[in-house]
Amino acid sequence: MEVIGTAESSTAAAIAPAAADRLTLRKLSVVYGAKRGNLQALQNLSLSVGDGEFVAVLGPSGCGKSTLLSIAAGLLAPSSGEVEIAGRRVNGPSADVGIIFQQPTLLPWKTVLENVLTPIVVKRKPDSADIARAMSLVELVKLQGFEKHFPFELSGGMQQRVGIARGLMHDPRMLLMDEPFAALDAMTREHMTDELQAMWMATRKSVLFITHSIPEAVYLADRVVVLSERPGTVVDVIDIDLPRPRTLDTMGSPVFIEICNRLRRFFRDGSLAAAAKVARPGAAAGEGAA
Ligand SMILES: Nc1ncnc2c1ncn2[C@@H]1O[C@H](COP(=O)(O)OP(=O)(O)OP(=O)(O)O)[C@@H](O)[C@H]1O
Ligand SMILES: [Mg+2]
Repeated sequence: MEVIGTAESSTAAAIAPAAADRLTLRKLSVVYGAKRGNLQALQNLSLSVGDGEFVAVLGPSGCGKSTLLSIAAGLLAPSSGEVEIAGRRVNGPSADVGIIFQQPTLLPWKTVLENVLTPIVVKRKPDSADIARAMSLVELVKLQGFEKHFPFELSGGMQQRVGIARGLMHDPRMLLMDEPFAALDAMTREHMTDELQAMWMATRKSVLFITHSIPEAVYLADRVVVLSERPGTVVDVIDIDLPRPRTLDTMGSPVFIEICNRLRRFFRDGSLAAAAKVARPGAAAGEGAA
């Protein structure tokens, strides 16, 4: 897709796999009320994640990506529009969704292992199988030896890795991930990216993955959804047909490089801003704050 789509074509592509959607967001708008005036974070945004599909969302800082994730998670109600998980209207957090937040939001009085076990503890007493699974997730995120440490004893990247393990703990059908690797060092980030791909290939969970990183989005996703500047709306959707598992060789392939370069040009040239104007006539209406 060389040219950014019109509002209609991008919206149609963003909600493409309608037959077996795990997550459907339809015509979402979000206006935050604030003392200094209302602030519109999202406008007329539609996208879906098919069952077993990996969708990455790319967009500039402040365009509403975390807002979008909070809505999908049932933590925030949209000002207008609809949210469905597995065909059912979302009214609050769902047990079958794992959330990995941009900030790890750990419980400071609980150890690493206890934090990872939180999704189980809110439902029942953990058994030995739960503890064994939590320990294997602690190993996955390379924190073995830190199980009994408290969050204040960990670096920011280590805390984020605890948040990732916690999001995987109850083995949800759908994962919502908000820049989960942003705080990690480069080597751990590569390791976690490959682990996520391997886990996804083995389990075919539905994933909505928010990132600032163009190569990370293209490496991991079946589809990359590109958002405009705030108020965020879908301005492009790119199918990534690269074979899996994707490897270091994939990153050197002409197709991978071409897709990444095309996305870089979108952001660098300000094409998104221009496209957003086409896609959102009258976007400023009803917005009191810049
Ligand atoms: N609770 C809130 N109350 C008021 N405004 C908010 C609130 N949360 C977010 N915003 C505003 O909504 C807009 C979108 O914020 P959001 O956090 O969704 O952006 P983002 O795309 O996730 O940014 P980043 O890439 O920097 O994480 C921003 O202008 C922000 O100031
Ligand atoms: Mg964010």
